[in-house]
Amino acid sequence: MICDNITVNKQNHLCFAGFDTVEMAQKYGTPLYLMDEAKIRQHINEYKNAFKKYFPVGSAPEFASKSFSAKQIYRIMQDEGMNIDVVSVGEIYTAKSAGFDMSHCFFHGNNKTDYDIAFAIDNGVGYFVIDSFEEIEAVNLMAKDKGIVQKALLRITPGIDTHTHQKISTGNVDSKFGFAIATGMADEAVQAVLKCENISLCGFHCHIGSQIFESDPFILACDLMLDFIAHIKATQNYTADILNLGGGFGVKYTNDQPTLNLDEKIGEVAAAINQKCDELGIDVPKIAMEPGRSIVADAGMTLYTVGSVKEIKGYKNYVSIDGGMTDNPRFALYESPYTVMLASRANDTPDFKATIAGRCCESGDIIQNDVTIPKPQRNEILAVLTTGAYNYSMASNYNRVARPAVVMLSDKGDYIAVKRETLEDICSLDV
Ligand code: LLP
Repeated sequence: MICDNITVNKQNHLCFAGFDTVEMAQKYGTPLYLMDEAKIRQHINEYKNAFKKYFPVGSAPEFASKSFSAKQIYRIMQDEGMNIDVVSVGEIYTAKSAGFDMSHCFFHGNNKTDYDIAFAIDNGVGYFVIDSFEEIEAVNLMAKDKGIVQKALLRITPGIDTHTHQKISTGNVDSKFGFAIATGMADEAVQAVLKCENISLCGFHCHIGSQIFESDPFILACDLMLDFIAHIKATQNYTADILNLGGGFGVKYTNDQPTLNLDEKIGEVAAAINQKCDELGIDVPKIAMEPGRSIVADAGMTLYTVGSVKEIKGYKNYVSIDGGMTDNPRFALYESPYTVMLASRANDTPDFKATIAGRCCESGDIIQNDVTIPKPQRNEILAVLTTGAYNYSMASNYNRVARPAVVMLSDKGDYIAVKRETLEDICSLDV
């Protein structure tokens, strides 16, 4: 199994976090997102422990809200003493309403509107991650207006192509994000922000991409960012307190992908940082990172009910399910790989090759091409694994399909974290 929270019971049913998925499907209906609360907490602690072990005091990981945002996740983050990042007023509002201490929150975005900036300041967001010259000016003005000094990081583009899918690679010089080191823009941004009386610059941020398994790209980013930190110290007499390395490590979606040893990878990054700082003669800054996927992805699973099995003789087979791109657009967008299992007969021989198709009126509504599973029958339960990240958070109401519920599985039992949308919900904003 690709993750240790997946097992099969005596009824030959797939189990997730020890819960029988067929029972869960009967109890809550499908499509259904399941989340393994213990797994989320485990990953948070893997990051926190590695940070404590390898990085200077004050270093801390942040959970990237964009991977999964709902009130319950922020309660878990608060409970675990985890920082968060947010990218919209919607995420700020959700976290705040869940009782999250917003001083531990980092606000990202390449185009924060005046409304966003005011909202974030009013709601006590700890740090802005500033992404443009306009934002420097707007945050300074707004903070002055409100009589505060706003803490901030500057988002820097180190200029690294990490070879992840182009749509999720964000460290290139020509990226829409950040201030590029290569063009001198980053130097200018530091000059501009240091002149601002109502912004306190706490350090620098970079993000090189997502779904990265190796430490090398992070080490390269650290190299460039630490060179930049040393250069800014020498030229502008400013010492960065925090270096934020952006998103976390990759996640195993299929058996051919590696299993990550987080402690080892973070240890490798830390060793490179220490050596580089030594060479440059600078203090090791506090390190931050913003993992999303590697906290929640394998803590999630989606259950569907099979509707039809269509065999197009000599061509291909389709298994149609009662969800699809509305609850998981990642194959349609990025051709993302996933592992699919027949939850109703988990250990039966997988001898039927089929494409798993969603129910939307669009041929691109595919969850996965050519997977091999036992041949399903109508009303059997199909499971797509590792869907905890960027599935619920990217779900839509296309075709006016209602979004599924999110059910948390914990040692205290199963409970609803997000209710299933109703037909009334779908029309609730229509006038
Ligand atoms: N920090 C920043 C600034 C980011 O842009 C991202 C992801 C993260 C942190 C979190 O990265 P993670 O640890 O989750 O890899 N919708 C795409 C993913 C887009 C990620 C964009 N940024 C997907 O479904 O794969």
